[in-house]
Amino acid sequence: MIPFKINEQEVEAQEGWTVLGTAKQYGIHIPTLCYHEAVTNSGACRLCVVEVREDNWSKVVISCMYPVREGITVSTDSDRVRNVRRWILEMLLAECPASVEIKKLAAEYGVSATRFAVKNPAEECMVCGLCVKVCQEVVGVSAITTIGRGVHKKIGTPYGKPSEPCVACGSCVSVCPTGAMRTRLDSIRGLGQAKTGHSHQA
Ligand code: SF4
Ligand code: FES
Repeated sequence: MIPFKINEQEVEAQEGWTVLGTAKQYGIHIPTLCYHEAVTNSGACRLCVVEVREDNWSKVVISCMYPVREGITVSTDSDRVRNVRRWILEMLLAECPASVEIKKLAAEYGVSATRFAVKNPAEECMVCGLCVKVCQEVVGVSAITTIGRGVHKKIGTPYGKPSEPCVACGSCVSVCPTGAMRTRLDSIRGLGQAKTGHSHQA
């Protein structure tokens, strides 16, 4: 077992555990968006940041990806962490300004506006890829996929066509942290247009 501290509490982790995984074992809250225990971590949203101190240095790391080490001290809600989270939430408000969930979360951190450019005021999707992973890794049908790269990355169906493998299980809707998939499932199945009126398929 690997001993270390989270918020001054002594904790122990097994080899290979992440800071987030250990915090969850001890009931210590760290906010997350793209994390789900049923799929591999992607580190896409960065909201789960924490501050890690070891010897004479400290840094802000993504807790769902960061493996624990003996003797580190983790702060889940320090001023530095909250500042980084506010900055991330501002970015998310610009990426998916129509998401009620993201607005609510941002409000909890006192963030109600963004300094970043908003490209699509109707966008709800943060392109975290959680829906794609659940469809692939849990349901096993790969009905949806990530299309494009960088700023052009989006969620859609292979070749932009209604997805035949989709079994309408709703797993993508239930894991989506922003509510975006709620309005897109019909368009994925070819049953109508996405409510957001996106130029892309999902
Ligand atoms: S639809 Fe939801 S789960 Fe899928 S990428 Fe967008 S925000 Fe993430
Ligand atoms: S929950 Fe860790 S990066 Fe999204």
